[in-house]
Amino acid sequence: MRKKMLVANWKMYKTRKEAAEFVRHFLQETEAQQPVEIVICAPFTALADLAVLLKDSGLRLGAQNMYWPDEGAFTGEISPLMLKEIGVGYVLIGHSERRRYFGEEETLIRKKVAAALAHGLKPVLCVGEDEKERHAGRTGEVIQEQLWGALDGLDLKDGLGEKIVLAYEPVWAIGTGTPARGRDADAVAGLIRSLLLKKGYGPVEGVRILYGGSVQAGNIAEFTTQKEIDGALVGGSSLAAADFAALVKAMSDRGGT
Ligand code: PGA
Repeated sequence: MRKKMLVANWKMYKTRKEAAEFVRHFLQETEAQQPVEIVICAPFTALADLAVLLKDSGLRLGAQNMYWPDEGAFTGEISPLMLKEIGVGYVLIGHSERRRYFGEEETLIRKKVAAALAHGLKPVLCVGEDEKERHAGRTGEVIQEQLWGALDGLDLKDGLGEKIVLAYEPVWAIGTGTPARGRDADAVAGLIRSLLLKKGYGPVEGVRILYGGSVQAGNIAEFTTQKEIDGALVGGSSLAAADFAALVKAMSDRGGT
């Protein structure tokens, strides 16, 4: 059985001080043993502190981005080695905000996925259609393009489920307060799984597929009780410790864990 997962994407929020306060509050509000795997994807500047604060807490640490070479003359970038050194285990790759505001395209995304895998960092690869593509009925096509663009040519045949996490994040649902419907998101998650199988990346039963886009405590169960969805990637509702703790509780109580 796939372990359910809840991934916080703090985006460009939280100073080191705010990150430390979040952890203190969150740990007070949640049980130490969780049936859900929790990952906090924090800004780079807070990662080293969080590595210390989260030690022995059961919570995992993730980055929101990285560049792909080990080192080099790439002003402003952070490498997989640097993330590994401070104890980061996960890295978001291909988030729609990276694609949209920083021009990230498939070739770069693929290099980042490959680099994460090579260093034993688990990529959380984000895919999703935008509003226009959705209205044009192109969701399936876009998901396939993004998936192949990010994974083609990578050696993923053995133990895919251990290596990578997928996140279906429809762009129109991110930060808008208008989430997808549970059954529609489930259909796309099912499509992702069948595309992976078709490509020969099987067995794919162990691969976790998350939904992201306006998830909050009141609607998380609609997604995580679906057959193909194994958790959520959460932006806005992960910023306040009480909101995030409520999400964990909703998922543990009725979220299909
Ligand atoms: P949201 O963001 O939960 O605020 O919609 C999700 C994301 O961007 O990963």
